[in-house]
Amino acid sequence: MLTQAFLNLLPLAGFIATTNSAALSQDVGTIDLEAAYGALQQWYNHSNGLWIPSTGWWNSANCLTVVTGVASVDNSIKEQIEVVISETFIKAPHYSPEMAKVVGMGNERFLMQTYYSDRWPYPPPAYLQHHGRPHRKTFKNFLNDYYDDEGWWALGWIAAYDLTHDHRYLRQAEIIFEDMYSVFGKTNCSSNSGGIGGIWWDKNHTYVNAIANELFFSTAASLANRARRPYGGPTYLETAKQQLSWFQSSGMIASNFTINDGLLQQTCKNNGGTIWTYNQGVILAGLVELSKATRNDSYVDLAHDIANAAIATLAPSGILKDPCEPNCGADGPQFKGIFVRNLLVLFKTSPRDNYINFFKRNAISIWDNNRNQRNELSVSWGGPFVSTANASTQSSAMDSLAALAAV
Ligand SMILES: *[C@@H]1O[C@H](CO)[C@@H](O)[C@H](O)[C@H]1NC(C)=O
Ligand SMILES: *[C@@H]1O[C@H](CO)[C@@H](O)[C@H](O)[C@H]1NC(C)=O
Ligand SMILES: *[C@@H]1O[C@H](CO)[C@@H](O)[C@H](O)[C@H]1NC(C)=O
Ligand SMILES: *[C@@H]1O[C@H](CO)[C@@H](O)[C@H](O)[C@H]1NC(C)=O
Ligand SMILES: *[C@@H]1O[C@H](CO)[C@@H](O)[C@H](O)[C@H]1NC(C)=O
Ligand SMILES: *[C@@H]1O[C@H](CO)[C@@H](O)[C@H](O)[C@H]1NC(C)=O
Repeated sequence: MLTQAFLNLLPLAGFIATTNSAALSQDVGTIDLEAAYGALQQWYNHSNGLWIPSTGWWNSANCLTVVTGVASVDNSIKEQIEVVISETFIKAPHYSPEMAKVVGMGNERFLMQTYYSDRWPYPPPAYLQHHGRPHRKTFKNFLNDYYDDEGWWALGWIAAYDLTHDHRYLRQAEIIFEDMYSVFGKTNCSSNSGGIGGIWWDKNHTYVNAIANELFFSTAASLANRARRPYGGPTYLETAKQQLSWFQSSGMIASNFTINDGLLQQTCKNNGGTIWTYNQGVILAGLVELSKATRNDSYVDLAHDIANAAIATLAPSGILKDPCEPNCGADGPQFKGIFVRNLLVLFKTSPRDNYINFFKRNAISIWDNNRNQRNELSVSWGGPFVSTANASTQSSAMDSLAALAAV
């Protein structure tokens, strides 16, 4: 009986196995990065060169980085994307909104939220009562009151330089770096067993967190491979090494290689804040750049430890997910793509099979479960599609599609 049943099942099992793998490659084949790009560009605003009001200022820096990545894997739209990059470079510096960022949104104590006076998300009454109207972003360039925002633009312009070899973009990244460097080693938590380092998150000096410090590290390490420090003083490489050593001693990296949100200002200890996907990401490309600059593979080993801990912690089912989903505000939906984009940089230097599987599963899930008829992609990569998609959810998901196209 048993044997008979087993024999009867065999051909069926074989049939199921083939259709599944055929279905998987068919799914990969239907992913249309150009269609996703077209959907993103419906939100590009030609009057300010940003993806505003669909998303915000720092998210637009990420949109820029994403389209740069698309251009590098799709030659047929490269020229058209180079025009967008140049338009952003010329127009965006003149955009001067009243904006303010806070840490904490509802129950998510460590979720960033950016408020704008002229559009959603508006500052809530409690904010206005306490702080008054947000400051205008007076700087006529890519600087504002938040060092993390500056870091996103610095990395965006480095990516644009890599694509186009246009030195104006590299110079812009160096100008932004100098502003971040002005607070290097000058925070409440700047001295630890790893030496002097660290920058503030904000110009009001309220928080020392992982994201601003990873962005500073990655910018320094990237510039070390592309530029000479123009003003004398320490080289980009020296600063990158010093920053990493400080960061590793800061306590923000837990013993299982996950990275928390930041430090407590009173004690300078790890605040146990949310393990966000993007904080497991930005450091990866920085470590790859540093390993290139020093020809020392130990930095790549550390990157693998962090990447694998992140996948185990934040993608236990294979699909990457931030703890805030699906209510991640206007800033949280950007995070996941940043992790995948940086994992791709690590993969290109040091390929691992489990990363390929991760790229495939996430891209397929986005395309099959998290897309509407207009090829808009929403916040949760496991699906279902939830309204509304915007330039933040779209660009973040596109990081995943572009990574698959690049491997
Ligand atoms: C583009 O942005 C400007 C503000 O810079 C805004 O006034 C305008 O409405 C936006 N355009 C669209 C189509 O949303
Ligand atoms: C900056 O700090 C001051 C003093 O602590 C505070 O009153 C002000 O609201 C803060 N500004 C912002 C934009 O957070
Ligand atoms: C940073 O340190 C200074 C001086 O020790 C102190 O006055 C200030 O309150 C600290 N800032 C924070 C955010 O704890
Ligand atoms: C590589 O970097 C690590 C970490 O900084 C260091 O301990 C090691 O000595 C370096 N190796 C070489 C060959 O320089
Ligand atoms: C690593 O530790 C954090 C707590 O700091 C925990 O939330 C996370 O699940 C752990 N990750 C793994 C893979 O064990
Ligand atoms: C973009 O979409 C996300 C997810 O639906 C939403 O939380 C966010 O508020 C939207 N952003 C803007 C600026 O409308």
